[in-house]
Amino acid sequence: MLNFYDTSTEPTQAMLDAMTHAKVGDDVYHSDPTVNELERLGASVLGHEDAIFMPTGTMSNLSAVIAAAGRGTEVIAEADSHIVYYEAGGMAAVASVMPRTIVTDDGVLTAERVEPYLRKPDNHYPQTAMVCIENTHNRAGGTVTDVPTMAGLRALCDEHGLHLHVDGARIFNAAVSLGVRAADLAGPADSVSVCLSKGLSAPVGGLLAGSAEFVARARRARKLLGGSMRQAGVVAAAGIVALQTGIDRLAEDHQRARRIADGLASVSGIRVLTPKPVTNFVLVDVAPSGHTADEVVASLEGHGVNASSRPPTTIRFVTHRQVDDDDVAALIKILTDVIGEPPT
Ligand SMILES: Cc1ncc(COP(=O)(O)O)c(C=O)c1O
Repeated sequence: MLNFYDTSTEPTQAMLDAMTHAKVGDDVYHSDPTVNELERLGASVLGHEDAIFMPTGTMSNLSAVIAAAGRGTEVIAEADSHIVYYEAGGMAAVASVMPRTIVTDDGVLTAERVEPYLRKPDNHYPQTAMVCIENTHNRAGGTVTDVPTMAGLRALCDEHGLHLHVDGARIFNAAVSLGVRAADLAGPADSVSVCLSKGLSAPVGGLLAGSAEFVARARRARKLLGGSMRQAGVVAAAGIVALQTGIDRLAEDHQRARRIADGLASVSGIRVLTPKPVTNFVLVDVAPSGHTADEVVASLEGHGVNASSRPPTTIRFVTHRQVDDDDVAALIKILTDVIGEPPT
């Protein structure tokens, strides 16, 4: 199967070798040397004092909310952000905070967009505690938040005493796209969650970075959520290789996303929603063909291609390490054929 999800990436041979030889200890007592090394490396790459290894991006985001926002407070997030849309309502169900969502056309929260949503001090209102942005933004099609926008958000959060969290599951894609260091994007925030799986292709795990004091609180939240692992160095070893070897090559994934967008631009029945992808996402609307996204995705599957349906008519393709130039050409041909078939 050709998988156009970056969540399908498999570990490299170098990762498997590192996993085989990893030195381990009990990370619940912070004594796994490989986890400790990954956390030190992650903190430095992200421009923060400390970091903690997390099993998933979802737990990382939820731990950040628990660590930074009190019960009954409000967390400002983009309406289509992963933390609001795809994390099982954890911020409400577990952290007891209120999401206050902002609708945007491109997934990017700027200081100007956030400012009107901040609560004034008044006993009637929940208190705003946190602003959570997503870089790159998944549902908006891999859009990026740049360094000046981060500076604006930092100034706004400082002015109002708010915690600024970045869901940076794909922040390395944003950094490569913008030609800056991940630390330039993550450093201005109070916390950042990054995935070592997905584009960086470690089999599992992520990091949550921030001040030592914040990370200590996140460590307690991770424990509460059942995410403290014992000999986790076996998987952390792959994360070290991911950070060392996985970032620069993301530019290739971005070029291939552009090629897919270009290749589909002239196919009738398809409207490319991201004609100039800046990272590794391509969104297409199949409405002009008369098909639904579910129908096209099912047909693609029959031809050996997996992609994500966003009903009613949007399909998402994400490039990654295991998608090469031949796969891009194959996708364009297969999708062109599938879309040309009459709707069932
Ligand atoms: C933007 C974003 N944040 C967080 C996550 C959650 O990561 P995980 O699947 O590791 O829980 C994802 C997963 O796709 C994501 O796209």
